Amino acid sequence: MRDEFPILAAGPYLNHAAIGPWPRCTAEAMQAFAEENLLRGPAAYPTWIRRENDLRKDLARLIGAHSADSIALLKNTSECISTVAWGLDWRAGDNLVLPRFEFPSNRLPWLAQAMQGVEVREVDIRTAPDAEAALVAAMDGRTRLLSVSAVQWSDGFRLDLQRLGDACHKRHVLFFVDAIQQLGALPVDVDACRIDFLAADAHKWLLGPEGIAVFYTAGQARSQLALRQQGWHMFDDPWNFQREDWTPANSARRFEAGSPNSAGQAALHASIGLLLEQGPAAIATRVLENTDYLVSRLRAVRDLSIVSRCEPQRRSGIVSFQSDSMPAREIYRKLGAAGCTCAVRDNAVRLSPHFYQEESVLEAFVGHLADALR
Ligand SMILES: Cc1ncc(COP(=O)(O)O)c(C=O)c1O
Repeated sequence: MRDEFPILAAGPYLNHAAIGPWPRCTAEAMQAFAEENLLRGPAAYPTWIRRENDLRKDLARLIGAHSADSIALLKNTSECISTVAWGLDWRAGDNLVLPRFEFPSNRLPWLAQAMQGVEVREVDIRTAPDAEAALVAAMDGRTRLLSVSAVQWSDGFRLDLQRLGDACHKRHVLFFVDAIQQLGALPVDVDACRIDFLAADAHKWLLGPEGIAVFYTAGQARSQLALRQQGWHMFDDPWNFQREDWTPANSARRFEAGSPNSAGQAALHASIGLLLEQGPAAIATRVLENTDYLVSRLRAVRDLSIVSRCEPQRRSGIVSFQSDSMPAREIYRKLGAAGCTCAVRDNAVRLSPHFYQEESVLEAFVGHLADALR
């Protein structure tokens, strides 16, 4: 992986929960696309279309979806969530359930439905003895939807999607998963977990560019969404601009209003190719080994407490910690000066290494941390 990830030479990069660096294959795909545009313009457009279709298939494979027809390529997670929030036929008195402290993208589009009389029930999953049971307990006969981040952005708290999906299915409640902090790091299976809608932008654990997102919709659930954007691209044969029949595609393409992000597709196609080649299961093993390593090393540091929940089923690619003797911002500043890339979220230092980083990278980080705390 050293050749594929030159960032390894730039100091410990522990910030995939913010923006992941690109692998070499992704940068080369983008360079090739730029060169092609420079020299030939869109002369090879049919290849771009083939790549778009291949990308849908690869993404379907990555998330365990039966068909590429369930995949739309939108511009970011927020757009995907808004497509569902504004697409459902809410009735006054309906409610939806969310974990408390979700990232704004998975909160604001739902809160905006208050104007239609929708009640948003936010559940504190961290203080509940059983997070999944608490989310389910917040549901009643008027609950239309549960929306969760598979992994929480601030501390990496992971939810059991299978349990939640089964509970939603039993109660005829739609199940939305913001998978941006999980997909690419730990496997997601939309079918097994009975997920109705899933969204994830490419720029974190998927190691792709910003501004292109996978939006999965299960068939039944897809047909429940009114379309809030229209354009030439939302048809089975989008290049027929003077059609008689303006019925949108049955596939998820119906959510893609206009011209695609072809450059983003070229880059993401390469990133997903790499992840599939490595294998989601092998990647997950490495990600969790890194988390285990960080947890065991951080536990041994004096005055330091791990904010993330450490039970095996709650672990993800994110580990957050605080120190009694130094504010998180100060630790972050010192680590940055030592060449470590991480983040501060919620007054804690957030670490998020990916599969390609070996123990030696984390060991180097722990050394820098010890120096920073001195
Ligand atoms: C849980 C979660 N959802 C969504 C986003 C970002 O959304 P978008 O793809 O719209 O930028 C983030 C980014 O940090 C996130 O952590």
